[in-house]
Amino acid sequence: LRAAGEADVAAATTTDELEELRVRLLGRKAELPNMLRGVSELPPEQRGPVGKAANQARQALQQTLEARIAELAAGELDARLVADRVDVTLPGRREPVGGLHLITRVRREIEDVFLGLGFDVLEGPETETVHYNFDALNHAPNHPARDRSDTFYLAPSANLPAVERAGDPRAEDGGSGRLLRTHTSPMQIRTMEREDPPIAVIVPGRVYRPDSDATHTPQFHQVEGLWVDVDITLADLKGVLLSFARSIFGDEREVRLRPHFFPFTEPSVEVDVSCFACKGTGIREDLAGHPRCGLCKGTGWIEILGSGLVDPNVLRSVGEARGDDAYSPEAVQGFAFGMGIERIAMLRYGVPDLRLLYENDVRVLEQWA
Ligand code: PHE
Repeated sequence: LRAAGEADVAAATTTDELEELRVRLLGRKAELPNMLRGVSELPPEQRGPVGKAANQARQALQQTLEARIAELAAGELDARLVADRVDVTLPGRREPVGGLHLITRVRREIEDVFLGLGFDVLEGPETETVHYNFDALNHAPNHPARDRSDTFYLAPSANLPAVERAGDPRAEDGGSGRLLRTHTSPMQIRTMEREDPPIAVIVPGRVYRPDSDATHTPQFHQVEGLWVDVDITLADLKGVLLSFARSIFGDEREVRLRPHFFPFTEPSVEVDVSCFACKGTGIREDLAGHPRCGLCKGTGWIEILGSGLVDPNVLRSVGEARGDDAYSPEAVQGFAFGMGIERIAMLRYGVPDLRLLYENDVRVLEQWA
């Protein structure tokens, strides 16, 4: 028994095997301990020698086992140390770092330019009333922008009481008086109602229109600008926007004002910046065979925003709401402008399709991060 046990112990190659052997050879049900327990039933003269031999065998086996366990355990520890070795001189694995979305970057760039020119930055509500979005901004009751195909109206709701509005015969809002703002211009009214002149503010924010193609998404971003003070003229407007255009599109840019129409500005203008691809020439000599500039379609000019002098009707309606004449057209004049952040971003960073900015493909987004 002892010899067989010792052979098994010597053959074992892992500490797990040895543990099994210990149970088999010396455990409670093993042969040798059984024999020791049976010694008392032997005839008296055999008890001494048998008991002694069995005890010796058990002790010997126990010692061999322990020695072998120690030996194997040491080997297994060495093996584990080698396998788990860490090379602390290897460079660490970097976690990918997020970046700002292009729209956020361009919004901040625009904010920085106007902060530098002395404008404050404000934000306003994305759900608006028909009053602030259209009526107070001098839109005629039948102005096409009010149409349900151009504006997302909010359904009447028990939680939001209907808002008073001017008598619009077609009632596209179903009586709620509420909509998702179609531009940031309502903040012109809210700001003038709240703050005394002079004011110079810009208002970045989300706006909504039912449009969807390569250059339009139903939700997009605008920055409104408003400066009201004494003796503000179109020359002030042009100076501020020239400074803006040069900060964003490069020091050599020029701006030009083209006559246009908006209900809330008079006169109204669209503002173009000289093309930064062809330097305003309309000709790309670097494109052999395609000399006409593709960015400005050969005109040398790119439209960047709408603006104008604040319409006296708007100032008068602000005066009615305030109940004073701080904003009477005789006391103050102002200019306002509104630009699409997506449009500025696409021009400035050469984004061919607006939808690329909203599909959240990191391979695309990280190019501008
Ligand atoms: N709100 C106009 C638009 O969304 C832009 C604009 C703003 C024009 C301010 C003039 C003055 O098209």
